Amino acid sequence: MEKKKVYVETYGCQMNVGDTEIILSILRDAGYEQTEQMDAADLILANTCSIRDNAEQRIKGRIGVFAQEKSRRRGVSEDEPVVGIVGCMAERMKEQLLEDGRVDLVVGPDAYRNLPRLLEAVRPGSPQIDVLLSRDETYADIRPVRTDRNGVSAFISIMRGCNNVCSYCVVPYTRGAERSRDAESIVREAREVFAAGYREVTLLGQNVDSYLWKTAAETVNFAELLRRVAAIDPLLRVRFATSHPKDISDEVLYAMAAFPNICRHIHLPVQSGSTRMLELMRRKYSREWYLERVAKIREVLGADCGLTTDVIAGFCTETEADHAETLSLMEEVGFDWAFMFQYSERPGTLAQRHYPDDVPPEIKARRLDEIIALQGRKSLERYRAQIGSEQLVLVEGPSKRDSAASCGRASNSMMCVFPGTFAPGTYVKVRVIDSTSATLLCETI
Ligand code: 5AD
Ligand code: SF4
Repeated sequence: MEKKKVYVETYGCQMNVGDTEIILSILRDAGYEQTEQMDAADLILANTCSIRDNAEQRIKGRIGVFAQEKSRRRGVSEDEPVVGIVGCMAERMKEQLLEDGRVDLVVGPDAYRNLPRLLEAVRPGSPQIDVLLSRDETYADIRPVRTDRNGVSAFISIMRGCNNVCSYCVVPYTRGAERSRDAESIVREAREVFAAGYREVTLLGQNVDSYLWKTAAETVNFAELLRRVAAIDPLLRVRFATSHPKDISDEVLYAMAAFPNICRHIHLPVQSGSTRMLELMRRKYSREWYLERVAKIREVLGADCGLTTDVIAGFCTETEADHAETLSLMEEVGFDWAFMFQYSERPGTLAQRHYPDDVPPEIKARRLDEIIALQGRKSLERYRAQIGSEQLVLVEGPSKRDSAASCGRASNSMMCVFPGTFAPGTYVKVRVIDSTSATLLCETI
């Protein structure tokens, strides 16, 4: 029997990339193979993101494109593709997505095991929906179909959902309550990808520091999980995301320090430099607390430890003074890189229900521009400070600009480019000779 074909587009964070790999595994067992061509697909999926309004608008545009593909094929053959919306937007919008008849399938992040059953039930005029959230689904037993291009770096999801209630954020509503995955299944998956030739795993969760796996015999926290994964092999690099400033513990920093193969990089979203804003955001830490955590990171892991962040401009009631505190914090810390956003009000969140979205769009935009400009300067400083240093790079493949050169990340996550062609997955020692604000230009040593 000929296999059915699934075409999938993935939006949003790395968790979604990991989820797409789980979905592809479930669908493969149901007789589907992946295609890169939408016009060859029996099933068109979008794994979606709700984090900001512009993410959702983009996906709404794609639904229009999928609908065109359906009507194009209606003219030429009997089998129109099934169009499915899965992930965060499916969970947030639910039946609303079915209203105009363009979508056949709506499946939330905890219901992917039901995809085969739902697909069998889909008929023209009878769409299927499953947006039930779960308290215990972690897909621990599912072997993801890897979708990375180079066979070097794999994502491993260690937990799902989120128990924080950051007032701006839709994720607790779209991904449900926090639950940790069986530690043994995580270590087994990391061993398997290493045996398959991968040399880097990224452990993923909304808040990895609150990872906790309890059995009658033992309790595994995030620091212990890190140690177990790092102990698999010194040639396996371990990365993780995302850390929460209120939860990142000294024990995690010491675990990193104890294993050279745990990469020297922490993504530590600050969101704002103003304690008043942080309180309204319900982040549960102050500016001073954040700065203390940064000082501890640098004390334990050295000043060159990679540090990146997320920043939101123009949250509810933000004043020029609050904004100035964000700029001064960014100046003081000197992040390597930041993801920077204008606040986007999300339906159903605490902020939407309780605070006015009262910073005018042009002021949000101006503040964001200032944040981006400052970060551009800081990135350049941080990258240039690496000139003269030696770095150990895990080769990902040929450089995009120059096929006679290779690229890969240093431990601190900075992208390095250097002459010569090396096999993906090998380690190369380099010296940094120049830099831009996003790349280290190196020579091999
Ligand atoms: N508006 C703008 N940015 C947001 N983020 C989360 N929710 C919102 C929102 N409503 C940002 C935060 C978070 C990152 C993943 O997205 O900075 O850390
Ligand atoms: Fe990821 Fe959040 Fe977007 Fe969901 S809403 S895909 S959790 S970034």
